[in-house]
Amino acid sequence: MYKLDTPPLLFESSRPGRSTSIFPTSDVPTKPLATLMPATALADGPPPLPELGELDVVRHYMALSTLNMSIDSNFYPLGSCTMKYNPKRNERLAALPGLGAQHPYQDESTLQGLLEILYDVQSMLGEIAGLPAVSLQPAAGAQGELTALLVAAAHFRDLGLKRTQVLIPDSAHGTNPASAHLAGFDAVTIKSDARGLVDLDDFKSKLGDLTAVFMMTNPNTVGLFDPQIAEIARLLHDRGALLYLDGANMNAILGAVRPGDMGVDLMHYNPHKTFSGPHGGGGPGAGPIAVRADLGKYLPAPVVARDADGTYRLDHDRPRSIGRVRAFFGNVGVLFRAYCYIRTHGPEGLKNVSRHAVLNANYLLSLVKHVYPVPCGDRCMHEFVASARSLARDRGVRAMDIAKRLIDFNFHAPTIYFPLIVSEALMIEPTETESRETLETFAAALLAIAAEDPAMLHDAPHSTTISRADEVKAAKSPVLVWKPAHAASTPSENGRSKSNRAAPSVA
Ligand SMILES: Cc1ncc(COP(=O)(O)O)c(C=O)c1O
Repeated sequence: MYKLDTPPLLFESSRPGRSTSIFPTSDVPTKPLATLMPATALADGPPPLPELGELDVVRHYMALSTLNMSIDSNFYPLGSCTMKYNPKRNERLAALPGLGAQHPYQDESTLQGLLEILYDVQSMLGEIAGLPAVSLQPAAGAQGELTALLVAAAHFRDLGLKRTQVLIPDSAHGTNPASAHLAGFDAVTIKSDARGLVDLDDFKSKLGDLTAVFMMTNPNTVGLFDPQIAEIARLLHDRGALLYLDGANMNAILGAVRPGDMGVDLMHYNPHKTFSGPHGGGGPGAGPIAVRADLGKYLPAPVVARDADGTYRLDHDRPRSIGRVRAFFGNVGVLFRAYCYIRTHGPEGLKNVSRHAVLNANYLLSLVKHVYPVPCGDRCMHEFVASARSLARDRGVRAMDIAKRLIDFNFHAPTIYFPLIVSEALMIEPTETESRETLETFAAALLAIAAEDPAMLHDAPHSTTISRADEVKAAKSPVLVWKPAHAASTPSENGRSKSNRAAPSVA
């Protein structure tokens, strides 16, 4: 369980004269500072820094580090985000000086090893996608979407076709319409049907001569594989339009099916959800894209090329390219982790990754569905979307209450209220790296919470420093307050403080 109190600030723990280091007496003759510097440059006294022993400092930061949830310490079933465990070995390899100490301005002849790795990543991602032309430049899934849509726009421009619309299912991730808009298209929403799949009638009625691209997430965000994809691809191609795959959910289908074989023309990967890229912290990330061979000429320049004599080089000579979308070669450290991950698992290992991700999700679904119904299907791919609708109706317990209470059980909350097509949605993605015991403990927590006193749930979590932060204000305009340890607790402006100390932070 979490500690109720944040540790005291270093200033509070400070004791005059306590220190972490003892310097030997200087053998350089001293002079008063005033004889060396003008008075205007001198401070009135030494800065008021806290004085502590090294061990106190270490314990302080260790204690702070345990206040956050992380995949290394908590089950993290955040649907759509695929918070799977990233092997530590890949982190160590990415930190090797031979990789980390390279400079992008080095002469290519001195970067042959790195370029070979990047060339292999291009080839491997192309093979997994069944789409041979790959760009490693985009720095996130969302930027991959934008880049691929710019490639599509270039394609239609070259054909002299006016295609202004991008069709997007109502279950799609918010980045899809945002990318379409940024790329200069109008986003047209396609309804989902009662099964949670693309409503084919709605799709057909909106598919027309202005359609450039259909952006499809498959498996989709309710965790279902849409078997209509081949039919959808045929309908699009008949009208000269393109099928884009949001590859955020590739963790469910690695090696089982290749998007290119399903009729996909362009796609992006999210290596941080699939190939052990680090999550969060605002990056660095990667969102490489793979496209049909004939669309390859539009990819951002440069791409890594291999000459007949085995030399690797950056190919800038790409007159039809949409240009650069990022400096240098993309986020090499992230791409290198993907290289390590793919090479370590190999083709059969990658298939197993997906098989286990799907197995884990279905096992968890089967443990909780009698209390948390799953409106779209009784089976799922790598994630499922349960609904707290009946709990909300019968007991006034909402998805938000359940998510917050899970924190008291030491679990990160699932994604909630997304996708929008499921009311009181709890989007749960266990990933392949979790054990059966963890899944069972999590299911037991979910079932226990459903039986708890609703009044207590509305106030959860009860074991954290801050209870219910204002979801928007705490992130966008945090009010950071510090009061001395002896001061009585007062509610912070962004959330209710549970501590008998005022909260130093709420975000
Ligand atoms: C389905 C889906 N598409 C696209 C994205 C965007 O990816 P990124 O966060 O790398 O920009 C996400 C991210 O969560 C996602 O879940």
